[in-house]
Amino acid sequence: MYDFDILIIGSGAAGLSLALRTAEFARVAVLSKGTLSQGATYWAQGGIAAVLDENDSVDAHIADTLDSGAGLCNEDMVRHIVEQSQGAIAWLVEQGVPFTLQSADEAGTGAASQPLHRDNLKPLHLTQEGGHSHRRIIHATDATGRAVFETLRDRALSHPGISLFENRLAVDVITREKLGLPGGGCVGAYVYSKEKEQVELFRARFVVLASGGASKAYLYTTNPDSATGDGIAMAWRAGCQVANMEFNQFHPTCLYHPHARSFLITEALRGEGATLELPDGTRFMPAFDSRGELAPRDIVARAIDHEMKRLGCDCVYLNITHKPAEFVRTHFPTIYSRCLDFGIDITRDRIPVVPAAHYTCGGVVVDKLGRTGIANLYAIGETSCTGLHGANRMASNSLLECFVLAFGAADDIQTGMATTPAPPDSIPDWDDSRVTRSHEEVVVSHNWDELRRMMWDYVGIVRSDRRLQRAHKRIQLLEQEIQEHYRHHMISRDLLELRNLVLVARLIIESALLRKESRGLHFTLDYPDMLEVARDTVLTPDQSRS
Ligand code: FAD
Ligand code: SIN
Repeated sequence: MYDFDILIIGSGAAGLSLALRTAEFARVAVLSKGTLSQGATYWAQGGIAAVLDENDSVDAHIADTLDSGAGLCNEDMVRHIVEQSQGAIAWLVEQGVPFTLQSADEAGTGAASQPLHRDNLKPLHLTQEGGHSHRRIIHATDATGRAVFETLRDRALSHPGISLFENRLAVDVITREKLGLPGGGCVGAYVYSKEKEQVELFRARFVVLASGGASKAYLYTTNPDSATGDGIAMAWRAGCQVANMEFNQFHPTCLYHPHARSFLITEALRGEGATLELPDGTRFMPAFDSRGELAPRDIVARAIDHEMKRLGCDCVYLNITHKPAEFVRTHFPTIYSRCLDFGIDITRDRIPVVPAAHYTCGGVVVDKLGRTGIANLYAIGETSCTGLHGANRMASNSLLECFVLAFGAADDIQTGMATTPAPPDSIPDWDDSRVTRSHEEVVVSHNWDELRRMMWDYVGIVRSDRRLQRAHKRIQLLEQEIQEHYRHHMISRDLLELRNLVLVARLIIESALLRKESRGLHFTLDYPDMLEVARDTVLTPDQSRS
């Protein structure tokens, strides 16, 4: 048994930021279900949106976010997060994240040519992405996530107040209610140790779900294997509301190559002038949106899907060959070298691309401080639904949200430390006395494949009631089968993730069936128009079913 003040489930941007903000006043545990780098954060390319340019403004960033969100954003939340963007970057600079700076020519004289410091952010280079009316993306070349992750991880590793646990997969959070104890609130989690092949008890006064999104529900995704919606599933089983699960974002440009496993081609490439072309070289985005390649993602992904279906082609092409080769190599070293591995020299060749599942806009309903509906249980980062993204997330707003929500949750936990009692001694150990080792692992591997293909085919970029109903029928069967397997067999990482993913997939389908309109990322042939009034799809668990 482990005992901490704060148990953070997830070691990405959200979890590590929270750990560093709380470790001065609390004993903190951070879990990762694989190695620490396993989340989406490590793979983030484009950057972090923040208002730093003197010609930009908080109001412009807010307006762009609301526009991308297709009328569904919570404006108050958008303002709250955007207003803190500069502070978030200042904190990251203070932590030592090696962001890309302006070149000497760009910096000129004055503040921009002075050394970078939390009080002087002018030297930072700003790039551009879809939906943004200004250059406001702070980045570390085209590997921003890696730079952020490694900096925060190294800080966390050397902090005496933080204990980091790898290969520990949280199975479920523990609430007083589920234990039949008086009072409400979360008191810890059961955690599967891969190494020990057993479930351990982590007691904590505060539990934070920072476990990322659920894009692995789809056959083709830009996400790492960890994105199985564990936090959303755990919160749902504990009794939390989830919202807007139908809005799964498809990134327009994932590298199309048989051996490239889900490699993203950053939107910043389009921000620096890359064009999208059909196989015959025709540029097609201007026919779909006046912003061309820099339209919000839902519009670009849908246009690509439309053109691929119209022409029956396997991919479209991204072309940046008109830019000087040196510019391309220095701004996009990761993409240049990864594509070269596949024989594509992006300074000379067009890049074959297709859309792929990328980001879960919906999630656990939380307030500005990351609080869920259960006392002492928080959700931050991609697991949560704050209202920032509405029906379609604007590029590079996700990392920003991770930091701002982590800061808010840290402050709230600090306030609550004095009054929140220690968890009760009577939390029982995990009981696995009635399960046996499985001799039918094929159930797990088969259902993984079936689930992800079904979601891709029936719950993808273009939907219809018929497709969604088909998907709903199948998901219920899959869920029954997986639950049955879970009840009778010893657990494994694959089984736990599948159990979570099938639940989250059902929530996506049920949310999509409830929305009788097309808005942002949810486009259905049966209701192609947008309703006048925008409403969130909020689901509340029926404890007898979940
Ligand atoms: P993650 O970074 O995904 O971390 C999740 C953590 O939770 C991991 O440590 C994982 O091991 C752990 N975990 C999950 N389940 C469990 C469990 N049951 N038990 C224990 N641990 C668990 N956004 C931007 O703003 N800008 C970008 O440029 C950008 N580029 C992107 C590029 C790619 C290829 C991808 C995939 C996403 C990109 N995004 C970008 C989105 C952004 O990276 C993510 O939304 C963000 O990093 C999520 O951070 P997080 O801390 O919430 O979760
Ligand atoms: C990208 O670099 O294109 C991804 C940015 C994001 O998902 O916000």
